Amino acid sequence: MSFTRRDFVRTSALAGAAAGLGACSSGDASDEATPAADPLRVLILGGTGWLGPNQVRTAVGRGHEVTLFNRGRRNPGMFPELETLIGDRNDNLESLRGRTWDVVIDNSATIPRWVRQSTEVLGDSVGAYVFVSSVGVYLPYLTAPLAEDGPVGTIDDPTTEEVNGATYGALKALSEEVARQAYPDTYQVVRPGYIVGPEDPTDRFTYWPVRMARGGEMLAPGSPSDPIQQIDVRDLATFMIDLVEQRATGTFNAVGPRESLSMARFLESVGGAVESEAELTWVDADFLEERDVSFLTYWAPPRGDYLGMHQIDGSKAFAHGLRSRPIAETASDTLDWFNTLDEERRAELRSGIPADREADILAAWAAR
Ligand SMILES: NC(=O)c1ccc[n+]([C@@H]2O[C@H](COP(=O)([O-])OP(=O)(O)OC[C@H]3O[C@@H](n4cnc5c(N)ncnc54)[C@H](OP(=O)(O)O)[C@@H]3O)[C@@H](O)[C@H]2O)c1
Repeated sequence: MSFTRRDFVRTSALAGAAAGLGACSSGDASDEATPAADPLRVLILGGTGWLGPNQVRTAVGRGHEVTLFNRGRRNPGMFPELETLIGDRNDNLESLRGRTWDVVIDNSATIPRWVRQSTEVLGDSVGAYVFVSSVGVYLPYLTAPLAEDGPVGTIDDPTTEEVNGATYGALKALSEEVARQAYPDTYQVVRPGYIVGPEDPTDRFTYWPVRMARGGEMLAPGSPSDPIQQIDVRDLATFMIDLVEQRATGTFNAVGPRESLSMARFLESVGGAVESEAELTWVDADFLEERDVSFLTYWAPPRGDYLGMHQIDGSKAFAHGLRSRPIAETASDTLDWFNTLDEERRAELRSGIPADREADILAAWAAR
């Protein structure tokens, strides 16, 4: 059975009740696939990247009917059993015309024009629009904690299509606004923090379990009390499909864990999960910055523009049922996945600090 945009608005009231159940949950994630009572037709824009396939697996596992839309470049043939519409967010949305879906999940848009064009073409043909944004909208993260109504970054030229570290967050914020205006009663904007877990193409989280498994003296950045947040890709995908089923509307930060996590606890948990024998040496943030290490993968000292980066308020998402698995489970699964990769891929991590540079900094720190 499917539903129209009007149905979606009507059932939003029920979503509040469903969300209340989520608020009582333990906050632990499980991989159980619960068949949906009301299977939906779901269009996923960009379903073959990393988050997308996790959404696809969750949605299909619950009996929803999924259609993909992409250019056919990334992981072609990943889901041969699903219908894939070929097109390009940049200039070719023809294959979306004349079709209807209950909900569209927009993973692939990074600029407002892409969202504007999709919403114009899809119009009343979809009931709800789910836009994957980012906590990057809050950059500069000048306050803490940052809730969904916190200030978002702005940009001098809102028409720019150059996506980089300086423009990414503000362009996501502008893109969110397009989705809200096009679907004022049924939009969902999800703002994930750093996404982590198996199959991460960036190695930002992967660095930590891999490095801890290697052992020896290990550089731990900043202060043991520095906060750190992330979201396991599987928990994020489950949460998003839950939100869709709840017909929830609004903007949601998606970060974990539920309770605040310090770098000391983070490294202890990751180390325990991979049976690490590494010995941590905490190196002061100023000392690191003098050596051009302002970030270590996604750690940054909680000050200046990055004060609130790992102090995002995720309570609204938890109240709507977000479950965040223990970081130890993410670490162990990520290392297991990494160890299945071929030697060439494993030889050099895409993020983190190379061993020789780490050793140089540790030697300088010891000699200070
Ligand atoms: N990684 C993080 O830590 C993080 C944190 C916060 C938010 N996010 C957001 O999470 C989302 C990530 O989703 P993801 O990992 O699944 O995917 P992704 O890697 O960003 O996107 C890849 C998908 O989009 C499609 N695509 C790319 N360019 C396209 C175009 N011009 N036209 C049509 N399709 C296009 C790709 O297929 P083809 O190449 O075949 O077209 C593929 O299916 C992004 O919106 C990102 O900004 C990420």
